[in-house]
Amino acid sequence: MKNNIILIGFMGCGKSTVGKQLSRSLGWLFLDTDEEIEAREQTTISEIFKTRGEACFREMETAYLKELLEKKGKENHVIAVGGGLPLKEENQELLQKLGEVIYLKASDETIYERLKGDKKRPLLQTQNPREKIREMMEQRKEKYQNCAKREIVVDEKTIAEIVEEIRSL
Ligand code: S3P
Repeated sequence: MKNNIILIGFMGCGKSTVGKQLSRSLGWLFLDTDEEIEAREQTTISEIFKTRGEACFREMETAYLKELLEKKGKENHVIAVGGGLPLKEENQELLQKLGEVIYLKASDETIYERLKGDKKRPLLQTQNPREKIREMMEQRKEKYQNCAKREIVVDEKTIAEIVEEIRSL
């Protein structure tokens, strides 16, 4: 296993929750690209989408990844990345250089159940979030699979079980 673990997957698959617990159990540090961008910009992702647009947010994601790679000594980190970050080919290469990429795979239904009342994800603030999740998952799943060396099905597993499964890879 390389010296960083990167968790990718659709919104609501548990990247941050699993990542925090995994980092604790390994004694590693935890980073979340969404949280880092919000802290730097001193605002929320929703606000960035609203005032500057999605394309601008995507540039911030790539810039942040590049920065992480340039920082020598950024090792022993568990890094949770935003659900859309691994879609760009450039980002996929950066992620693979940065560490071992693991895809947390959740079904559309699991995602919908977890996120149906969510107000923080701008891309899901639509009339029919269930259909939107289905469409986005259809477009994205192959990219997640191609980007990650390994995948873990998370439906019906506890956080502790997922952490153990990652540790046993
Ligand atoms: C997005 C996922 C979000 C956040 C933004 C866009 C996406 O992160 O980066 O709302 O395109 O899937 P989470 O996957 O942590 O919810």
